[in-house]
Amino acid sequence: MNGEGIGFGKTILFNEHFVVYGIPAIVSAIGKYTVAKVTPFEHPGINLVDNRSATPRYKEDKSEQQQESLRRIVEKMNLDFSNSGVNVELGGSLHAASGIGASAASCVAIARAFSEYCQLHLSDEDINEIAFEGEKGYHGTPSGIDNTASTFGGLIWFEKKDPNVMQRISLINPVEIVIGNTGKVANTTAAVDGVRARREQNPGKYQEIFNRAENIAYLAKRAFIDEDLIEIGKLMNENHKLLQQIEVSSKELDFMVKLARDAGAYGAKLTGGGLGGNMIALTPGRDLQEEVVTALEKEGFQTLKTRIGVKRGGSIE
Ligand code: MEV
Repeated sequence: MNGEGIGFGKTILFNEHFVVYGIPAIVSAIGKYTVAKVTPFEHPGINLVDNRSATPRYKEDKSEQQQESLRRIVEKMNLDFSNSGVNVELGGSLHAASGIGASAASCVAIARAFSEYCQLHLSDEDINEIAFEGEKGYHGTPSGIDNTASTFGGLIWFEKKDPNVMQRISLINPVEIVIGNTGKVANTTAAVDGVRARREQNPGKYQEIFNRAENIAYLAKRAFIDEDLIEIGKLMNENHKLLQQIEVSSKELDFMVKLARDAGAYGAKLTGGGLGGNMIALTPGRDLQEEVVTALEKEGFQTLKTRIGVKRGGSIE
């Protein structure tokens, strides 16, 4: 029997980086996903074929981390392919780039595909735990937010705790967003390590920023419940300022954020690890979404149009 599984891409709306320190964050899965297919292979071991479309250099830069991630997944699942090998093929609609959950999506997809191939019948909770282990191969100390969004889908309030807190946020009306790609592959581990080092050097300044980030998360949750998109946009702008202050933005990200806001986005910020990677803009309505896309593409940036809060069967984009 062959095995197949998917993992959603994601975009963090509030508090990437801060989430690593237990501050609440809000994340949404997006409608693009990675698919993993596992089939028997004639040689022992794992033959990984990565057919995902990707930002130039993404696959090359991440290939060692990808191997380490795969090793961790196999170990966590207690699998052994040393006698009868497998082919693991990655594909799907999610363009592999930094900041959009490509690593988490692949971990979730692979865990699901192995589960089916080996007839393990694992639950989503099990898959999430395995993907978390796989994520460690990409960035040593992940908060768990990416694999959670990638496994469960939907719009999620997340707190890194023991155990993690995951609450669904429901939106009556889905909202259009634009994700813009700087085209730069970023190293999440370096970004996370940089924040840790600067925080240790300057605890007072960082504590103030972290307090504000926590406050923003609660205000944003309230605004989602009220469907107050203007307020959500404002809070995203403020969140971007905090991310600039902890030095994880970049000139390309700041430029894209400005382009999106000038084109009428309600709010815009970097999304994910930063230092390159992706930006998210809140663009309610298809017309505004199109205007922001045009503004970004005119400057040569690649974009992705999607919505947050879309219900799809049991799961939500
Ligand atoms: C990366 O998508 C999000 C970070 O907050 C790291 C993490 O939470 O593991 C930068």
